[in-house]
Amino acid sequence: MFSKLTDRDSIDEVIKAMSLEEKARLVIGDSPFRTKGMEQYGIPALVVMDGGTGFNSIQDEQEKAFRAYCKRRSIAGNPVSEDEFVSGMECLDTNKLSALADGKVKAPDLGEMLETRPLTALGCYPPGMFLAATWNPEVISRCGRALGREANSLGIDILLGTPNVNIHRDPLGGRIFEGYSEDPCLVSSLAPAFVKGIMEGGVIANVKHFAANNQETGRMGINEHISERTLREIYLPGFKACVDAGCQTVMSAYNKINGTACAMNKWLLTNVLRDEWGFEGFVMSDWGAAYEEAPAIEAGNDLIMPGPRTSAPLIKAVRNGTLPESVLDDAIRNYLKVLLETPAVKGHLTPDDIDPEEGIRAAYDAACEGITLLKNDGVLPLAEGSKVAFYGRHSREMIASGEGSAEVRTSLNTNVYDAASKLTGEGNVTFGEVREDTDAIIVTVSARGQEGFDRESLAMPDEDRTALYNATAESKRLGLPLIVLLNVSGPIDIADWEPEASAIVCEFFPGMQGGPAMADILFGKVNPSGKLPLTFPKSYGVTPAKDNFGGDGIELTYEEGIYIGYRYYDRHPEAVMYPFGHGLSYSEFEFGEISASVDGGKIAVSVPVANTGLREGSETVQLYVSAPAGKLDKPEKELKGFAKLKIASGETGTAVICVDKEDLASFDEEEGRWVLEPGEYEFMAGASAADIRCSVRVQILA
Ligand code: BGC
Repeated sequence: MFSKLTDRDSIDEVIKAMSLEEKARLVIGDSPFRTKGMEQYGIPALVVMDGGTGFNSIQDEQEKAFRAYCKRRSIAGNPVSEDEFVSGMECLDTNKLSALADGKVKAPDLGEMLETRPLTALGCYPPGMFLAATWNPEVISRCGRALGREANSLGIDILLGTPNVNIHRDPLGGRIFEGYSEDPCLVSSLAPAFVKGIMEGGVIANVKHFAANNQETGRMGINEHISERTLREIYLPGFKACVDAGCQTVMSAYNKINGTACAMNKWLLTNVLRDEWGFEGFVMSDWGAAYEEAPAIEAGNDLIMPGPRTSAPLIKAVRNGTLPESVLDDAIRNYLKVLLETPAVKGHLTPDDIDPEEGIRAAYDAACEGITLLKNDGVLPLAEGSKVAFYGRHSREMIASGEGSAEVRTSLNTNVYDAASKLTGEGNVTFGEVREDTDAIIVTVSARGQEGFDRESLAMPDEDRTALYNATAESKRLGLPLIVLLNVSGPIDIADWEPEASAIVCEFFPGMQGGPAMADILFGKVNPSGKLPLTFPKSYGVTPAKDNFGGDGIELTYEEGIYIGYRYYDRHPEAVMYPFGHGLSYSEFEFGEISASVDGGKIAVSVPVANTGLREGSETVQLYVSAPAGKLDKPEKELKGFAKLKIASGETGTAVICVDKEDLASFDEEEGRWVLEPGEYEFMAGASAADIRCSVRVQILA
């Protein structure tokens, strides 16, 4: 008679009934994107796939290929054993499969499996960098909810990378488009909204990659030397905020921190995550990041992904006493507690439960809020009926998200060319050709974002450079305004061509609704309100981590410490192309008199903001705080809160931003704790990190 998992109270009974072999098996993935099911104990297998921007159907195909492979191996009389490592490539190796199946089954056609896969109508939501540019938790939450519901209906239990909160340490980082910001306060204020939405969708959220996973160079196991203060102040807060918001799973990263791989790092996974932050969910490794099984479980990495993978080292470690069985039991307990909350147990939604319009609306609203107007000499918005000539391949084929785990294959993507044709009339739009009556030239340029590779430079691809060159030449020849759209994974070189552009609009990777949102902004149907979640530097040579980014692929020191992003650029203003927090509107906003009140441990700052422009618009009031001189070296200022206000023309709104006293503390390594130094702090309200409009001093007692 087996004990069955029914509720939390039954977990210990189930663990007691399990053999050591079963326990070891349960904490290791069963296949590329599934965990182990044990029917005898009422434990279902969980489907665990990416991701943060939409359902990754490529992984679904990989999982299917693996299953097909297992089936063929069985037919061939050589079944895949639970301990066998099977690479993805092996599953798709048609020659091997045919030989194995010995003509008994038709081998799958590789081309058929990978290339001719039909596109389906899957939602593609903006990645983290774009979401952060919205500075709007509400719209982020709606994207999360729609995505969560959709994934739920497709059979997913845990949606990976919801969110990815790795900090934008360096603009060349291949995956920075997935992460939210260079600033921990902005990440911590927004990413939890995504967690909330995902949870509302009924699937389990997953925050990744814990921690300081900031480059793809040497991505499996690069050893990062980072000071504790830097980790605590910059690289960890986003994770803590998601844990505080109820995120039930954390993915441990590939890299090492100060000599120990994250998935085997007890300080990180147990001391900080569980003991200090009170995390009650489970930790799963990134795919292949638990380099050794027993040390991973011992450190607090509860689930080792993916499978199949041998469980022999775990069994051996328990038998020889190097891994206490109670630690393995703890891992299972953590895992089963969350498993009870999954759709696999509670029931999945069905496709009939999904309103596809909900996702499209959320993606459109997010796109409208995040597209960021960087420069405008008055050419925008374009008048209704304007005739425009588009250049650049991505005007017609917008990059909605980056490549790798965050990639979504879908038929729902849009582009600005089609959307503009619809808006201003098909006859008013051309591609690659300027007519006599053309009013403006619009060119899209790009920068690739890709898991597995960092960018080599901030240069745009040659094809885009040529398009920009041609568009610029035509604009000069005919005296037409040039509007440049940035469909980019992050900053690119702008300084050399910026003077030629009348307007520059950054759409990052905007998700499936980027096309209509961009067209609506260009033609003034929507007033832009995005703000940069990271600094755009003048060139790569002036960036803070340039001297050690990438390292030698094996070792790397975060020499810049806490001085990344505007914390660095505030001391080097000449290096900035567009500052953190920058973004223009078609309206103008005037900041009134700032005031602050202190109530116990809370400081409330109010700033009236008047919309002096002619149309309704949104302004994001950013509250930065400057600390008095004290024991610890502090940045010039740090973001501590913000409020995005929608204000009608001629009206005044009030931003009220509350800051906890503790949020002003810094981590003192000597004392091994957060320390709040008393004194007079300056609270500054700005429209960007380089555009402070007013400030007030507040006496803070320790
Ligand atoms: C990536 C993760 C991803 C995982 C599963 C890894 O290679 O680093 O971000 O979630 O694969 O697809």
